[in-house]
Amino acid sequence: MKKAFITGINGQDGSYLAEYLVEMGYEVHGIIRRSSNTESQQERFSADLRSKITTHYGDLLDQGGIERLLDEIQPDEIYNLAAQSHVRVSFDIPQFTVQANAIGVLNVLEAYRRSCPTARFYQASSSEMFGNSVDDDGFQRESTPMTPVSPYGCSKLFGYSIVRNYRKAYNLHACNGILFNHESPRRSSNFVTTKVVKTAVQIKLGLADKLELGNMDAYRDWGHSKDYVRAMHAIINHDTPDDFVVSTMHTTSVRAMVEYVFGKLGLDHEKYVGQNPKFMRAEELKYLKGNSTKIRETLGWKPEYTFEALMDDMIAGWLEKLGD
Ligand code: NAP
Ligand code: GDD
Repeated sequence: MKKAFITGINGQDGSYLAEYLVEMGYEVHGIIRRSSNTESQQERFSADLRSKITTHYGDLLDQGGIERLLDEIQPDEIYNLAAQSHVRVSFDIPQFTVQANAIGVLNVLEAYRRSCPTARFYQASSSEMFGNSVDDDGFQRESTPMTPVSPYGCSKLFGYSIVRNYRKAYNLHACNGILFNHESPRRSSNFVTTKVVKTAVQIKLGLADKLELGNMDAYRDWGHSKDYVRAMHAIINHDTPDDFVVSTMHTTSVRAMVEYVFGKLGLDHEKYVGQNPKFMRAEELKYLKGNSTKIRETLGWKPEYTFEALMDDMIAGWLEKLGD
């Protein structure tokens, strides 16, 4: 039985990845931070999953604790998914963001190198690292220059770079997935897709009467988290440690996403949607469209969910949560 160790196991991706690995017969371990509200930390786990995984207290900032866990568990695969993952919030708490997303990666890498260097390592890198760089054909790909425009993007670029450095310097099987935006019914409600879907469903049910957004002219390449955790597993299991873009190769504006969601619920978005400067960013990443030819051709991965199927899944999830 293979053993996996997941940081960020109770996040959106961590919970889907844990399900996927348990289904494949893995023994799954993960770390959860201490919180004053223990119950809310397990909300993304079904009762069945909870009985099949082992969680340990741990924090990316506590390198000794992580090293002790890796010493004891001796995993075959380490997935470093934990992060302060909100881009706008990274402007509010830049130092914490860098501690968790940059120094945190180094802490896990050091623990890995010292405790179980024959294991494989996956780092959750991000399309936010590209900033506003776009190739002439309108895509970002593995070779596109990385010029991040947020504390989050800068911190992720450090994580990405130190993984590449450790791979070569210490001959480690350490890889990066450069994932474009991915969502699901488990996505937290301060990301734009869930904010739009949840509020539109509330409006439909008479529980809200307006939706305030920031920049509606940004474009994102939105996929489904369930498809993207399959990509993580394929990347870490490739013979050679390498870096791969994971994306749908389509892009949609926030405005068009709003129109789709409201339209699907039979609502006129113009009656309900407005802008509020408090949701704008100090610097905005305007456009993302990922070229994932490399992972499609090398590892045979492709997404199953279209943009519409993703949004429909999120709408169905929130109707079930908020409806009678
Ligand atoms: P998420 O739902 O925000 O989950 C993040 C997880 O990290 C949570 O479990 C959180 O725990 C944990 N965490 C935060 N700081 C920590 C620390 N110091 N020590 C230990 N755990 C900590 O994010 P996600 O959408 O699943 O994304 C997973 C990873 O992929 C993140 O690294 C994110 O930056 C990256 N990524 C995401 C996307 C995307 O579109 N979703 C795209 C590219 C890259 P708490 O519950 O205690 O906060
Ligand atoms: N969150 C949010 N809230 N975003 C808004 C709003 C709003 O009210 N109004 C407009 N937007 C715009 C943002 O300005 C951004 O251009 C776009 O919607 C998407 O924002 P988010 O859903 O917050 O995601 P993100 O693209 O900033 O970051 C996500 O994707 C990255 C990969 O590119 C996160 O999941 C990151 O962790 C991930 O690395």
